[in-house]
Amino acid sequence: MRAKGLVVAMDGPAGTGKTSVGKAVAAQLGYSFLSTGEMYRALAYKVFAKNIVPEDHDAVLAAAHALRFTFVRQPDASLKMFVDGEFLGAKLRLEEVGNVASRVSTNAEARRVLTEKMREVGQEGGVVMEGRDVGTVVFPDAEVKIYLDASAKERANRRVKQLQEAGEHPDYNEVLRLIEERDYRDSHRAASPLKPAQDAAVIDTSELTMQQVIDAVLEKIKRYDS
Ligand code: DC
Repeated sequence: MRAKGLVVAMDGPAGTGKTSVGKAVAAQLGYSFLSTGEMYRALAYKVFAKNIVPEDHDAVLAAAHALRFTFVRQPDASLKMFVDGEFLGAKLRLEEVGNVASRVSTNAEARRVLTEKMREVGQEGGVVMEGRDVGTVVFPDAEVKIYLDASAKERANRRVKQLQEAGEHPDYNEVLRLIEERDYRDSHRAASPLKPAQDAAVIDTSELTMQQVIDAVLEKIKRYDS
């Protein structure tokens, strides 16, 4: 048993509700919630800001080494991330940053650097950690492993709704194309491709409400505990 509780690994592609589900589960358990994608986005933001080509292996690796993360737990259980002392907030959510994140995350050495930083945050447990390779690479010894999935079409629907709520006018086909493109890159890269851990519980969220997914995850955790 770890000092602060279990490590709950929650992996899967974008748009499966990992963040909302992970935060709700963490809040319920009094755990912290960490989005590892935010850390890749932070690296991408620095790469973007410094005009580094995302495929420039050594420059991206140096940028990864230079990152200094600090985290402060918020009332909703999430860990607010500061990068070199700065809160980057909405800048990390920009579409361009997400795209660069997907490209820099093919850099195996930079992944190792970020993976070490993730382990520092999670090793004592009491954490729900969301990403692509938490159960396979970051914490292969996580006590509970969940893999959330959903069809690309359903994820595109959800993304369109999200963008519309933010006052934008997205084109469904373009959103779907971008999702499929990123899925392909994330699951075909040589370093830590996106795939469920052998011992992960796979939950297809296409036909489920958020609450049903939260309940299913809590049930898996309860089963581990008992
Ligand atoms: O979850 P997200 O969309 O914020 O992640 C942004 C990108 O970072 C995504 O394209 C894949 C990458 N990523 C990764 O390779 N490994 C992780 N553990 C988390 C994210």
